[in-house]
Amino acid sequence: MKIACIGAGYVGGPTMAMVALKCPEIEVVVVDINEERIKAWNSDKLPIYEPGLFEVVKECRGRNLFFSTDTKKHVGEADIVFVSVNTPTKTHGIGAGKAADLTYWEGAARLIASVSTSSKIVVEKSTVPVKTAEAIGKVLKRNCQDPNVQFEILSNPEFLAEGTAMEDLRNPDRVLVGGADTESGRKAIETLVSVYAHWIPLERILTANLWSAELAKLTANAFLAQRISSINAISALCEATGADVSQVGHAIGTDSRIGPKFLNASVGFGGSCFQKDILNLCYVCESVGLKEVAEYWYQVVSMNDYQKQRFVERVISAMFNTVSQKKIAIFGFAFKKDTGDTRETPAIDVCKGLIRDGAKVCVYDPEVTPEQIFRDLSAPKFEWDRPNYSRSQSHMLENVQVVSDPAAAAEGAHAICILTEWDEFKTYDYQAMYDKMTKPAFIFDGRNILDHAKLREIGFIVYALGKPLDPFLVKGY
Ligand code: NAD
Ligand code: UDX
Repeated sequence: MKIACIGAGYVGGPTMAMVALKCPEIEVVVVDINEERIKAWNSDKLPIYEPGLFEVVKECRGRNLFFSTDTKKHVGEADIVFVSVNTPTKTHGIGAGKAADLTYWEGAARLIASVSTSSKIVVEKSTVPVKTAEAIGKVLKRNCQDPNVQFEILSNPEFLAEGTAMEDLRNPDRVLVGGADTESGRKAIETLVSVYAHWIPLERILTANLWSAELAKLTANAFLAQRISSINAISALCEATGADVSQVGHAIGTDSRIGPKFLNASVGFGGSCFQKDILNLCYVCESVGLKEVAEYWYQVVSMNDYQKQRFVERVISAMFNTVSQKKIAIFGFAFKKDTGDTRETPAIDVCKGLIRDGAKVCVYDPEVTPEQIFRDLSAPKFEWDRPNYSRSQSHMLENVQVVSDPAAAAEGAHAICILTEWDEFKTYDYQAMYDKMTKPAFIFDGRNILDHAKLREIGFIVYALGKPLDPFLVKGY
């Protein structure tokens, strides 16, 4: 059996590396139009940082795992073609700012049709609006010259989270395979299930119809994001009432119907999926006339925007209503720890908010490159997922510095903002940092990871999300 995967990104790369590792008799080729990305996959510096990924790639690369730009050849030869291209939010036209832009998906489908001389199973790995399989089916059928070639479309959404991708792939809660309820559809489902069955117990491989599988992916992300917006909404109420969001979260999380996970209040959720997929869900609802349902889910995104804005306003109001010309150290730019990914990271909105008020931000992140940070702070909203987006000149950047040493970021700063929950932030010598900061020195912990009592002992004025306010912030002394 030969598998090709179109799209060598955060999903295509790690997913196919795991398939190759667990199925040594299957040849797996990951293809991409982005030559640089493929070059990096073939080097010792992979294009994405993911714990455990390099070891797996090293073991399989050249054995039964290959990365190539020769899309036509490998897709043409494959029995199963995974499509794992980006499906960003549309930036213009009907549905702009909400609907999924399926340009890359359609391009991939046209390519599959044009090079296919044998029948194939086409697997939707990308997250797509419900009913996409129907549209893709039409593109495939109408563009293939060979009448004997049959395409069977399956939906196999990916549930991995970044930073834990390899563990999630090795030991997933479930794998979902949706297909048509026809003889050939059931056969295709069986074939894909047999690939996953190499390492995943059969009871964790769920099968469903195509539309259920497509919709389950959007729904899973909407529910997960909803939990974060819910606890973040409560964090605002905690600050106003003297309650502690960690205690509230713990108390509700012990109810087995609610469960303890995904209840950490934060400066806001980020990442390439949550916002995009909820907006996509809202758009699907609107397009079938379900305005109230769309509005309901839209609130999850609104609450997230509110949380980021609330954080910025707290920093400014705590620092005597002005951050003008003040150096503010930003610890963490990635959207979560253990990844170098910055897509939709809350750090972008927080930094932009502070800079708009005149602050000079100095960013430190252990994994994100300066180039990426500059690019993110100058890109218009939703443009980050366009491969051809080139950095525009922006006055924002005059007030941004990126450093490779956290102590240098803190030196002379009026405040430190913790925006990513990197473990190393917990281990710093904050006394030494305090000594070199401008006084009063503030810490705004947007992830609630530091020892706030100890920081207050050192002399910091501490703001923690959803926690009783520092007496200084209440009374001003
Ligand atoms: P990505 O941007 O990292 O990778 C997509 C890749 O597809 C890019 O390298 C791009 O060059 C390539 N591509 C686009 N059109 C192509 C074409 N016609 N031929 C060959 N290559 C092409 O995106 P990603 O994060 O891997 O996400 C891919 C899909 O998976 C999205 O739909 C996303 O919503 C979904 N998803 C992502 C995650 C995640 O954690 N990132 C998790 C689950 C699902
Ligand atoms: C998410 C889904 O978890 C995954 O199943 C899907 O396949 C892709 O989208 P990802 O975005 O990689 O994965 O990371 P996730 O761990 O879900 O975190 C998303 C954002 O929520 C991050 O910014 C994270 O910091 C934030 N978060 C998470 C919180 O603010 N609080 C929490 O309790 C959990």
